[in-house]
Amino acid sequence: MKIGILTSGGDCPGLNAVVRGAVLKGITVHGHEFVGFRDGWRGVVQGDVIDISRTMVRGIAKQGGTILGTSRTNPFDNGGGPEVIEAHLVRLGIDAIIAIGGEGTLAAANRLTDVGLKIVGVPKTVDNDLDATDYTFGFDTAVQIATEAIDRLRTTGESHHRCMVVEVMGRHVGWIALHAGMAAGAHAILIPEQKVSVEQIAQWVTQANARGRAPLVVVAEGFVPEHLESPHSPRGLDTFGRPRLGGIADKLAQELETRTTIETRATTLGYIQRGGVPSAFDRVLATRLGMAAIDAVVEDSWGTMVALRGTEILRVSFEEALGQLKSVPQERYDEAAVLFG
Ligand code: F6P
Repeated sequence: MKIGILTSGGDCPGLNAVVRGAVLKGITVHGHEFVGFRDGWRGVVQGDVIDISRTMVRGIAKQGGTILGTSRTNPFDNGGGPEVIEAHLVRLGIDAIIAIGGEGTLAAANRLTDVGLKIVGVPKTVDNDLDATDYTFGFDTAVQIATEAIDRLRTTGESHHRCMVVEVMGRHVGWIALHAGMAAGAHAILIPEQKVSVEQIAQWVTQANARGRAPLVVVAEGFVPEHLESPHSPRGLDTFGRPRLGGIADKLAQELETRTTIETRATTLGYIQRGGVPSAFDRVLATRLGMAAIDAVVEDSWGTMVALRGTEILRVSFEEALGQLKSVPQERYDEAAVLFG
């Protein structure tokens, strides 16, 4: 069997480990052949592939980014669509696709499976916002990077007696903020799921300051303060109409400085959170997901996504995977909030 693999959407630590896991199991156990689509769905729509050999995946589990390249191309736009894609697959002799990506990728894969293409999905998002899987690879690494960065920012805050506002990723959900904020001992954690007023945040900051601490506020990029208009993308849209990452930390720092009169600085961690070497946890999870995707291909389990539940890897349908975003539950936020202020 010849299998085409693609990585789509934002890059994420662990993508290469998935590719390696799938290719090594596919070659050694089943004798499959592999190609990689260049730059996600763009490579599928244009029939742009590279051969993937055993040698090519040697040692890449620890490598960040994706050796296949990625893009946010929608396979139904840009001259794509099922007929075009099918013609490329036939010409290239590709029997099945393993699509590694987030919500958008899985939604596209679902539509293509409905018209008969043979696709298996692997979940990917540093934000950890897919409800069908307990964890996504990349999340653990992002939390480690954010925690270390916050620890470092704290020393500047303490030395200068400043309030530090740190913005982490999380456009729709606040998992990275919650975990990194708890790990680093933040005095306030602000996430998209929770409406909190600027007055309340200022109160937490003032309380921490009164105890002689340098106040530390961790904010997810998608957080919108109560009573303020949704600045959902304070940095606006790029030339492709997509929101630019970041901006809330700057706005919040200004507001807090005015209200508390405590000198306040903002830092946006941005893409540093999803770059570079994956953690050991993410490498193992990604490798297992890649191998499980091969099992799904071998068993003709088209239209399914491999997922982590507890310690087991199982399969869920694309429909189930596309259900709803996994938000931070109220009780997890309340638990963290005990430590605020
Ligand atoms: O995919 C997750 C994410 O990290 C979001 O938190 C963020 O909004 C987005 O990617 C930004 O990525 P890009 O600028 O590549 O679209």
